[in-house]
Amino acid sequence: RILILDFGSQVTQLIARRVRESGVYCEIWPFTSSLEKIRSFNPRGIILSGSPASVHDDNAPTLPEGLLELHRPILGICYGQQVLCHTLGGRVETHEHREFGRAYIDVAEECALFHGLWAQGGREQVWMSHGDRVTALPPGFKAVAYSEGAPFAIIANEERRIYGVQFHPEVVHTPHGAELIRNFTHDVAGCSGTWTMAGFRDLEIARIRKQVGDGKVICGLSGGVDSSVAAKLIHDAIGDQLTCIFVDPGILRAGEADEVVKTFRDRFNIRLVHRDASDLFLGELAGVTDPEVKRKTIGRLFIEVFEQEAAKLGGAQFLAQGTLYPDVIESVSFNGGPSVTIKSHHNVGGLPERMNMELVEPLRELFKDEVRALGREIGVPEHIVGRHPFPGPGLAIRIPGDITREKLDLLRKVDSIYLEEIRKAGLYDEIWQAFAVLLPVRTVGVMGDGRTYDQACALRAVTSTDGMTAEVYPFTFEFLNRVAGRIVNEVRGINRVTYDITSKPPGTIEWE
Ligand code: XMP
Repeated sequence: RILILDFGSQVTQLIARRVRESGVYCEIWPFTSSLEKIRSFNPRGIILSGSPASVHDDNAPTLPEGLLELHRPILGICYGQQVLCHTLGGRVETHEHREFGRAYIDVAEECALFHGLWAQGGREQVWMSHGDRVTALPPGFKAVAYSEGAPFAIIANEERRIYGVQFHPEVVHTPHGAELIRNFTHDVAGCSGTWTMAGFRDLEIARIRKQVGDGKVICGLSGGVDSSVAAKLIHDAIGDQLTCIFVDPGILRAGEADEVVKTFRDRFNIRLVHRDASDLFLGELAGVTDPEVKRKTIGRLFIEVFEQEAAKLGGAQFLAQGTLYPDVIESVSFNGGPSVTIKSHHNVGGLPERMNMELVEPLRELFKDEVRALGREIGVPEHIVGRHPFPGPGLAIRIPGDITREKLDLLRKVDSIYLEEIRKAGLYDEIWQAFAVLLPVRTVGVMGDGRTYDQACALRAVTSTDGMTAEVYPFTFEFLNRVAGRIVNEVRGINRVTYDITSKPPGTIEWE
């Protein structure tokens, strides 16, 4: 197992993800963790994360006292490298130019960290993001790679098995970064790489049992991947101590509510409360046009209805949520800027504080594709596990302007045709998210001999690995043409179809 000491970087979870991908179990602990605890965790290797801090700051984060005397292999990333050097007698300086973005490093020497991966004399692409940099090495260290902006891009003390990299191997912009981390966990730290999602499941089940004891848990189920996997996992752990509450807000896609009930109540035998709250939701949303007000209204109503149902059940001390890691960071901040709200994601925050319940969030450390792998592991059916993400505010944020039942019905029909064609063409699994948007414009058309003056819709499809960035899916013209033809012919009220070709950034995935 590997211990990741977190110095506050935005991307520490990505390090954990890479370690898991290398088949090794890991945990992330704050840099303030005591040596005692670290020793009892008994990690085979330790990774030090990056940080927004500088080692010269007052109260700069430091290594846990005595960490180096544990004689474990260490990999310091960015700030992790700087704090190692600072502690061991090297020099770290603040440079007037921050180095940010793609950079190239030249490999000067062989090193166990990239043995079999990068050869001496090679040039490799990496991702840099730093203000400070190491300018003098501590005794016993040598530089094994350098870049223009960082003379000590990779440093090593092979004897003590301590390594430092100035760049970020955990991000995808360092093409061979995952392999570098794998080299550290396998070759340097000697982990076997046999850990799998089944291991994660067992640990999480034990963790849930320990946290909950014989208490009662309620879980808001939406039918999406995250809450479905969370609910099934918690049910596997504690059976009927779990009750799921499924609030149907009337803004779901065609057929979804029935499917949730069928899968969870009938198939999994999970206790399920199904509340149709569409009148309430659509009543309160009438005339609301501002996207954030829509989200807030929907979030508030979800909470209210959920609270009512929870009160009817009574006696639960725990609230389960399928919160994923990207939900956590997108809600806290975005692109490193403190508290910039791009979109408020209502599934994080709000509910727990009000309900005064303890949270059970078994997926909080995972990324979407890892949740899918876990779901498959625990037998959640493919049509749920493989399903595209669907936002909590549902179709309401796919209808710019105000929302009515008529518009919702129109959008459901368009969406169904679009998704049916995507499935038929075998493209569903290649796409992260595909959906239709009902546009608040009417345009003129001609059908048969008559003039039409109907609504336009937009189709969107993107690829992504975590929803934080996205690329437009390159459908063939023939496919788009077929879908557009079907929509205009089969959905009365729509006479124009457009395809959205904006990536994220600068666009977001949803239109609102
Ligand atoms: P954006 O539109 O911000 O979406 O690029 C990123 C991912 O988040 C989903 N999304 C939401 N999910 N509540 C949610 O639960 C929301 O308010 C919300 N807004 C966007 C979106 O579908 C995409 O997967």
